[in-house]
Amino acid sequence: MRNIILVGFMGTGKSAAGRLLAEKLNMDFVELDEIIETREKMSIKDIFEKKGEPYFRLVEKEVAKKASSRKNIIISAGGGAIVDEENFKNLKQSGTIICLKASPATILKRTKGLENRPLLNIPDPKKQIEELLRKREAYYNKADFSIETDNLSVDEVVIEIIALIA
Ligand code: S3P
Repeated sequence: MRNIILVGFMGTGKSAAGRLLAEKLNMDFVELDEIIETREKMSIKDIFEKKGEPYFRLVEKEVAKKASSRKNIIISAGGGAIVDEENFKNLKQSGTIICLKASPATILKRTKGLENRPLLNIPDPKKQIEELLRKREAYYNKADFSIETDNLSVDEVVIEIIALIA
């Protein structure tokens, strides 16, 4: 089976939905950020702080390429991964890309107080969410399907994904 790749902004529920989906479909779940952290022996937050975002993006590119070469897995890609053309191409070749979406207010609510997202760990995360969403909209719209998650539970998101890929 071809891979199922979940993309979308931080806080749209990719990891939670991906894990449950993997369980239901009996497939392996691969979270790119988790692989990066294991590889670098550092949290995403520390990688950004100590090595900088460009370094993170380089590692992300390698990890996305490697995951794309596997089969029959669910991939959750970090919110910025498919902004890179090569990442998009590699992931797209490996399967169906599903973008999880949410409004800025929902994203703010879901990410508030969590320190593990360096891009939002700033004084005015709301403005940053709105700006990044605007910048990334065209990339997210390249996904094969999208799901608006604002009013959905994780279970409901997974049911929608299964219906989309059936
Ligand atoms: C990022 C999203 C994060 C993580 C990193 C950068 C982004 O992943 O890759 O902090 O650029 O949107 P999640 O979307 O899983 O939070």
